Amino acid sequence: MARIFREEITQHRGRLLVALTCMSVVAATTAGTAYMLDPAIKKIFLEPDPTALFVIPLVVIALSLTKALATYVQAIAMSTIGQSVVSNLQRRLSMSLLRADLAWLDKRHSGGLLSSLVNDTQHVQDATAQVMTALVRDGLTMIFLVGVMFYQDWELAAIGVFVVLPGAQVVQKMAKKTRKASHATFEETGTLASLAADALKGIREVRAYGQEDHEIKRIGHSIDRRLGHIMAAIRAKTLSGPVAEALSGVGIATAIIYAGWRGMEGDLGLNNFVSFLGAMMMAYQPMRSLANSMTRLHEGAAAADRVFSIIDTKPGILNPKNPQLLAHPAKGSVVFEHVSFSYDGTHDALRDLSLHIPAASIAALVGPSGSGKSTMMNLIPRFYDAIQGRVLIDGLDVRALSLEELRGQISIVSQDPFLFDDTVAANIAYGRNDATNQEIEDAARHAAAHEFIMDLHGGYEARVGEAGSRLSGGQKQRVAIARAMLKNAPILLLDEATSALDNESERLVQHALEKLMKGRTTIMIAHRLSTIAHADMIFVMQEGELAEQGRHEELLAAGGLYARLHAKGLSEAGV
Ligand SMILES: Nc1ncnc2c1ncn2[C@@H]1O[C@H](COP(=O)(O)OP(=O)(O)OP(=O)(O)O)[C@@H](O)[C@H]1O
Ligand SMILES: [Mg+2]
Repeated sequence: MARIFREEITQHRGRLLVALTCMSVVAATTAGTAYMLDPAIKKIFLEPDPTALFVIPLVVIALSLTKALATYVQAIAMSTIGQSVVSNLQRRLSMSLLRADLAWLDKRHSGGLLSSLVNDTQHVQDATAQVMTALVRDGLTMIFLVGVMFYQDWELAAIGVFVVLPGAQVVQKMAKKTRKASHATFEETGTLASLAADALKGIREVRAYGQEDHEIKRIGHSIDRRLGHIMAAIRAKTLSGPVAEALSGVGIATAIIYAGWRGMEGDLGLNNFVSFLGAMMMAYQPMRSLANSMTRLHEGAAAADRVFSIIDTKPGILNPKNPQLLAHPAKGSVVFEHVSFSYDGTHDALRDLSLHIPAASIAALVGPSGSGKSTMMNLIPRFYDAIQGRVLIDGLDVRALSLEELRGQISIVSQDPFLFDDTVAANIAYGRNDATNQEIEDAARHAAAHEFIMDLHGGYEARVGEAGSRLSGGQKQRVAIARAMLKNAPILLLDEATSALDNESERLVQHALEKLMKGRTTIMIAHRLSTIAHADMIFVMQEGELAEQGRHEELLAAGGLYARLHAKGLSEAGV
């Protein structure tokens, strides 16, 4: 929470000053009203004075009006600060998420991260705005009111304060409990969001396997657990108010007894006593609010912990300090030098992999499922960094290039390309915001996508739906190919389409890919014998290592793993 103050709130110094001033005014006018009971009783009842009958009510009215105005201004100023803290945290959070390493994101569920973005930041705001207001306004009000109490009679005041003290401890304890329960609530909110997101994303599987009840039950359990944590927090939170209330009752009763005794002795004036009592009763409200805000502070702190744990993760894959430059246009040769990689630090996904792919050639990666083909591709655009060895493009280590330049040289078309819920045109132009309509259409024609796009309702302006759900698999793939055409990068990474496509669209996609590959360094994970046979070189992977390499005929003749895979029929072997 201290960080929120240091990093976020100090940016609003002017507003904060206004708010603080208004809070002091509120505190002073509240105490002033309590004090006014003293002259009111003295000048009207004890020593009647006709002018006081007009002046005192006028002063009281003026005080309340001033208080009302100050309360309003302070509330607006604090809300503005609180809301801009939220939006700023959301901005920082989304920036961290978009820049985070894939390795970091792999370990988290997007639902939980979204929940932090939307939910946790909101709790931070609630805490900052309310806690600051409570601490300053109610704290000051308390101090002023206690001041009035001491001014009227210090012995009485000392008793009143003394009685209330143990309450502070209870409140402190409850605040800690709130923090724990809130933290658990936020975690569970993330889990709930993840479960719901998964169930919706996988709704076809849910239906096909009749798992509606199972999913509803899972989500229901999460809702129950969340409710449990929330109730624990509420019980702890709510206790602080009544504790404060009960204590102030005891305080008031003690004061009355002591005051009554002293009043009977005749050394305490009625006016002093009424004003004292007024101040003490008025102090109850800010005291409760202070107690409340202690628990809120801890709730906000729990949320802030979660938010900052994301904001503070520094990506490991960064731009180098002095990036080297490729020739423009880059040629696009790709070399792996003794590259090893592991996702989890225990099991090697790639082991001492060395290979050389000359510029403008076509390389096919084959090998059993899980042998490291996709992993090898992931290292080229630095989605992950090699643990040992180097990946070079045109002789330069990919880690020596700026990420922008590196990724500018690479187009990727995956098996299941992702489309954004936007228009077809926007999806093709993704990464080339400056593309003209003509360029977009040309790319689509080259990708054999123009015809089907024209048949869509709205043509290029038709929306593709969430993750492109309104298009068929082959259509999505051709949009992705058009996107890669438009990017026109020298290196092409291809996770080749498989049997998901029917013959006609497979032929179209195949044709589009052949056009795309022309003149580029292409590295493809190949499944179809026809494409593999045409590759300039074939790399056969096995358990993260390069088992064989060569051309189709050479490898067949060698009679190794490739020949065995080939005998089994490459695509049936799940390659
Ligand atoms: N994000 C990840 N986190 C942890 N392990 C992973 C991750 N991605 C892949 N792996 C593991 O790394 C190994 C290599 O996986 P990779 O995806 O490179 O295989 P592949 O050759 O592409 O297989 P396929 O032909 O089935 O796509 C596998 O053992 C896999 O379980
Ligand atoms: Mg793969």
